[in-house]
Order: sequence, then structure tokens, then C-alpha cells
Amino acid sequence: MVFIAYAMHIQEIQKSKIHSVDFDQLTFGKTFTDHMLVCYFRNGEWQTPEIKPYQPFTLDPASSVLHYGQAVFEGMKAFKDENGQVWLFRPNENYHRLNRSAKRLQIPEIPEFVFLEGLKKLIYLDQEWIKPGIGNSLYIRPFVFASQASVQASAATEYIFSIICAPVKSYYTGGQINVLVAEQYSRAANGGVGFAKAAGNYAAQFYPTSEAQKNGFQQIIWTDADTHEFLEEAGTMNIFFKINETLVTSPVSDRILDGITRKSIITLAKSKGIKVEERPISITELKEAHQKGILKEIFGSGTAVVVLPIHSFSHQGKSFTLSSDIPTALMLKEALVDIQYNRSEDIYNWRQIVI
Ligand code: COI
Repeated sequence: MVFIAYAMHIQEIQKSKIHSVDFDQLTFGKTFTDHMLVCYFRNGEWQTPEIKPYQPFTLDPASSVLHYGQAVFEGMKAFKDENGQVWLFRPNENYHRLNRSAKRLQIPEIPEFVFLEGLKKLIYLDQEWIKPGIGNSLYIRPFVFASQASVQASAATEYIFSIICAPVKSYYTGGQINVLVAEQYSRAANGGVGFAKAAGNYAAQFYPTSEAQKNGFQQIIWTDADTHEFLEEAGTMNIFFKINETLVTSPVSDRILDGITRKSIITLAKSKGIKVEERPISITELKEAHQKGILKEIFGSGTAVVVLPIHSFSHQGKSFTLSSDIPTALMLKEALVDIQYNRSEDIYNWRQIVI
């Protein structure tokens, strides 16, 4: 048996910038911690990872990612409980999903040690940036991109994997959101990269979303590209519909992100005796359910948003408002958050202690 001793280079900051941060006034994803992890892929292998002070990359203008968008990322969070212990939520799921995304984008897989041990060491160094209290967390952004200086339209031979961290509160400040159901633009196609956390999946949403925002919608519910009939995913979230007493959500596919919050919500809902159906759901069915008064709730789920209730949806120029009575979304959110913040028993072994 070959024993491989892993190494990591660590350079700590001289002076933390934490005292210049107002933790009550955080805008999601705009403030970053003192350190970052960087690991280079060169000569066909991942090099020794480094943790160093947060700083810019130096990139050649021909870096492949700038031309062809060969980049994937993850989103995950760390939480601090009332005793000051720090926890990750299902980090192995993020690790495996990053590599599924990487494979689809012809990016070399990241070694488990670099991702998981690197992440834990990084969080250890930046632990003061995680504030206790429900709603406070550390948003963690692992990402990998093609750094080779080449405008040849082919997969690069050099990559950079990095992890940066941002202390955050909620993603949206306003509570419930209004969404537009897509009739013209599409997010993903069969056989495409919709399931992956490919950077370009998000870039392609910016224009249609900003057009929708001009009309008062915060997000778009994406529909299938062929018919614009089936409801798939909403911006940065998977989406759930409560019709009568059943929770319905689209099945994951090569078009839909295999959300870790999504699958956690499904498990929690079933454990509470709620019937969950993973099946295609159409806008026609949704509007009919609304008309009959049996569409009780709609909510999105995702790492950044956690569980986000939807106040109204709009389709073909008509708006459909939902009740503000949202017991299922609230109950599932609380059950999830209680596990994340070590406030309840974790029968699924989803929590992993960091410190
Ligand atoms: C996440 O929930 O982690 C996401 O990927 C959302 C992000 C694009 C802000």
C-alpha cells in the first residue's frame, strides 16, 4: 500500500481586517474573510494547496476561462452554535457535486483532501468571522476555473481551484418574493449543463432576470425549453409547490440542479408525514390549482436562500397571489435550520463539526 502524506502551505495574515466590518450591515457576498485557499493544476496534477491572505489572482489575458467560461463552483455554509462550535452542513455532497460539475466541463476532479481538509483549515483560521445566531453564517464559495493562457477552443491544461468565504445574513432582505414564469428565455436544455453549477448557467440568467426585475419580479421560474410549460427551477433555487397537502417538486435531471437543500427538504418533509411527489409540474396545473384554491404555498430552496416563500407568480401578463399563511415552508425551514445550527438531534448525520 502506498501511503501519501498530504501537505498544505499556510501563510496567515499579519493583521485581521475583521474590525473594519459591520456585521449588522452585510450585503450578501460582498465582504470576504482574511484568508483564501488556492491550489494549482499544472503538469497533469493538482499541486500542494496553499492557504494565504485573501488577495487578487494574477491572470494572463489569454486565460481560457475569460474566453470560454470553463468554470464551475459550489455554494455551502458554516454555522456557529450557541457554544461557539462551528459546523458544516453535508459538505461531502458539495464536494461530489463540484466534481460532477467539473467532469461535465472537462475540468480535472479536485482531490477530496484539497477540498475538505483545505476547507476545514480555512474555516479554522477564519472562525471569528462566523457569528452565532440564527440567520448568521459563513457562505463558502469553492470554485475552479481554466487558467491556461490559450485561446484555442479546447479544454485547458491548467486550472486554479480556490475557496473564499463571506460572512452573510439573508440573501433577500424583503422576506417573500414575486416571480415571473419564463415564456421566452430558457435556462437549460436536454443534454446541456443545467444540472452543473457551471458559471455560465448563472451569467445566462442575468439579462432575462434584470428585465423581469424592471417589472417588479425578483426571480424567474424557468420552464422547459421545448414548451415553456413545465416548471423547473427558480434563479438560484429549486422550487416546491404545496397543492392540497402534497409537496410537489420537479425531478432532478440533466437540466435541473441536484440541490442539497432540496434533497434535505424532501427528507425532512417525509419525516414529518408530508407526502412529497417528485414529478413534472406544469404551469397549467399550477394555475388550475390556484383557481380551485388548493395551491397553498410555493417556496424556493437553496444554500444561499435556505427556504424562501414566494408571494406571487406571474404568467402571460396575469399575476397569481398566494396566501401569506405559509406553515409548511416555515416548519421545514425551522427543522433544517435547527439541524444546521446544532439546535436539534441530527439523525441523518448531516452536520460535520469543524471546531
Ligand atoms: C447557492 O445557493 O449556493 C447558490 O448557488 C446561489 C448563488 C448563485 C448565490
